[in-house]
Amino acid sequence: MTSLVDHHQVEKLLVLVAAIRSGLVDALAGDSPRSAEEVAADVEGDLRACRVMLEALMSLDVAEKVPGGYRLTALGRTHLLEPPPGAPLPAELERASLLHQERKFRGWLDLPYIIRHGRPPERDPGERDLRSFVRTMAEGDPPAMDEVVESCLAYAALGGGAVRRMIDVGGAVGHMARRFAERGVEATLLDRPEVLPEARIYLGDWAQRIRLVGGDFRESLPPGPFDLAYLGNIYHIYGPARNAALTARVHDALAPGGVIAIRDYVWERSPRAPLFAVNMLQATEEGGVWREADYRGWLESAGFADIEVLDLAKSPNQLVLGRKKPVLAGKGT
Ligand SMILES: C[S@@+](CC[C@H](N)C(=O)[O-])C[C@H]1O[C@@H](n2cnc3c(N)ncnc32)[C@H](O)[C@@H]1O
Repeated sequence: MTSLVDHHQVEKLLVLVAAIRSGLVDALAGDSPRSAEEVAADVEGDLRACRVMLEALMSLDVAEKVPGGYRLTALGRTHLLEPPPGAPLPAELERASLLHQERKFRGWLDLPYIIRHGRPPERDPGERDLRSFVRTMAEGDPPAMDEVVESCLAYAALGGGAVRRMIDVGGAVGHMARRFAERGVEATLLDRPEVLPEARIYLGDWAQRIRLVGGDFRESLPPGPFDLAYLGNIYHIYGPARNAALTARVHDALAPGGVIAIRDYVWERSPRAPLFAVNMLQATEEGGVWREADYRGWLESAGFADIEVLDLAKSPNQLVLGRKKPVLAGKGT
């Protein structure tokens, strides 16, 4: 019989998250192996529980037993250990995203309540794990991020404009802003003030070369003018009225000919859209997955032209592109 759900994957996620949160993973990170007793002392934990967890981690191939005790395997290291600040993240790293998935699924347990009431229940803000949330974004697939950068620059070049200054709106820790900066673009990152310390840690030396601005993009954007505004995974957080207002604000912040680039799931184009919409039910008050016609409407009303919606080849979402109309020579004379 084939089952609908692979329960083993759920167990695997919960064991790995428990091992990260309790400190077991970090206790095994050193070069010398640690006995079960030493690990239990390191994490101030129960010896029997630690033994069971260590065996479970071995069965998942992230830990191994060698003379002298337990240690992480190479697989465990690349997937679970954070590199030092500023160092590039290995493509396989999924430490923050595992933590984020577990928090997310806690929210999904509220779905029966949400179905009845139409909104998530009051939650303790202390339950939020800001660090793993914003770092999860940086753990995205590098080729997928590169495809987005290439597509934005190619679209801008088609309009004849070089991208000298860009803004990453809701840019989290700066993983995309950094990619643009590596291409010689002067990058500004806007996110909530409490996210910026995480961005500084993630960016290391790059934090000196990227302008980090704390603020609320529902109220204002840093003064431009920018040649490119990138908005990745932002529009699904808010409802249509806020998205329309944000699009108009972006239009104001762009130079004539400047480009807006929105990366998100688009209904009927992304196979992930229906389940992602469920995630927005639990994570937001008014967010969702929007249709191509919604994006086109917001961009057209704001004054953008040459609107295109691309299906990205390396990720299951779309890139919505538009251009602020250039000022025509002689206009207004
Ligand atoms: C889903 S993450 C997307 C991160 C990144 N753009 C990406 O695509 O990987 C949303 C980001 O927007 C930020 N954000 C959400 N609402 C915001 C607001 N009103 N003002 C500023 N930043 C906001 C969050 O703090 C978070 O870093």
